[in-house]
Amino acid sequence: MGLVTGACFAELGHKVVCVDNDASKIRSLKQLKIPIYEPGLEELVKRNCRQRRLVFTTDIARAVKGSTAVFIAIGTPPKENGEADLTGIENVARSIARAMTSYRLIVEKSTVPVETGRWVERTIEINKRKGVTFDVASNPEFLREGQAIKDFMQPDRIVLGVGSKKAEKLLKEIYAGIKADILVTDIKSAELIKHASNSFLALKISFINAVAKICELAGADVERVAEGVGLDKRIGRSFLDAGIGFGGFCLPKDLEAFVNISRQLGYSFDLLKEVKRINEFQKEDFVKKIESNLWNIKDKTIAILGLAFKPDTDDMRFAPSIDIVNTLVRHGAHVRAYDPQAMTRAKKIFLSGVKFCSGPYEAARSSDCLIIITEWNEFKELDLKKLKKLLKQPLIIDGRNTYSPEALKSHGFKYVSIGR
Ligand code: UGA
Repeated sequence: MGLVTGACFAELGHKVVCVDNDASKIRSLKQLKIPIYEPGLEELVKRNCRQRRLVFTTDIARAVKGSTAVFIAIGTPPKENGEADLTGIENVARSIARAMTSYRLIVEKSTVPVETGRWVERTIEINKRKGVTFDVASNPEFLREGQAIKDFMQPDRIVLGVGSKKAEKLLKEIYAGIKADILVTDIKSAELIKHASNSFLALKISFINAVAKICELAGADVERVAEGVGLDKRIGRSFLDAGIGFGGFCLPKDLEAFVNISRQLGYSFDLLKEVKRINEFQKEDFVKKIESNLWNIKDKTIAILGLAFKPDTDDMRFAPSIDIVNTLVRHGAHVRAYDPQAMTRAKKIFLSGVKFCSGPYEAARSSDCLIIITEWNEFKELDLKKLKKLLKQPLIIDGRNTYSPEALKSHGFKYVSIGR
């Protein structure tokens, strides 16, 4: 998120210094090597570096000295108890404060629990030089991995949580090149908008997944139900795709962090606890589907297509594939996996029991069934005749409803999907 934000601000014409304390990351970026797979990012970074609007450094003090606004985009990973770990935010706030020689606007871009702004303000106040003034603001980011640049440049809204007119004016100037609705709020409300948005998206997914289960039990089709429900403009069709549940570094951890901060404030957010439970159930139920179609999992060869938590990213953090593949391997299956971008990262997670293949057909070769976990575009256009010849039996179990059941039936496959 930091790199995308920096590159996009540079594209808008600002001079941007990206800082990280990971020296090897900065070294790679200086050589224009991008550490993640994100469509369009490499070209954007290269173009803005060449035009000298974007530079990288490990020297936070120099970066702060030369900037008017400082955006904090560092990670807030979950602690064991589900709370967001904010030690990184505190450390960086301290370093910024010590480097400030005159007025600075410090902006929280990272997803943080409500009231973090107050702590950042306090940390800066304690550590800054006498007489130096500053403002803290909250400017949550809503970009999605896989379409991060488009989301940044054409957002549905820009939220500015500010405590002064000066901060509001500066932020509006920074975003002047982007056409979007701007919502100005207080800092706490802006922080809450981010947690509430991600939790609501998670709620939509778990809701449709629960409906999908009812569809299976009743013999209905969740795709048609989602269509019918989503046509109501008050509800909308997006984020109503049933499947094996949500993963990634944002929805699961932000949901958990929101439950935790609510508890600390004195409210038990049980609705969100149920959202999480349904999400876990989706993965368990999917493994049961595999088991009930293979009889025994032990010694079966299972082809897996897709490992990343969603298409167009190489991100494996909290990917549903982790629990599913690990359970299959624990039950004695031989897994043959393929993902277009995430295999390097996946190899560090699945240390045994998984053979990484060079493509979907290689994965399918002599397998007892084919499982779709991530709906990459290339999996939507497989040569079904070829696939049928390669598999031991024509069985596809699809965790992302990639194919039409009728089409696969007409090709002679047994096709099992979610909620239909
Ligand atoms: C999410 C939010 O969508 C962004 O707005 C937010 O800025 C970001 O988190 C963040 O906090 O940084 P992201 O994690 O990139 O973005 O991915 P999503 O597109 O939200 O997908 C999350 C998961 O939900 C994926 O595993 C996806 O497969 C799943 N999903 C999504 C469904 O199962 N069904 C759907 O209908 C939609």
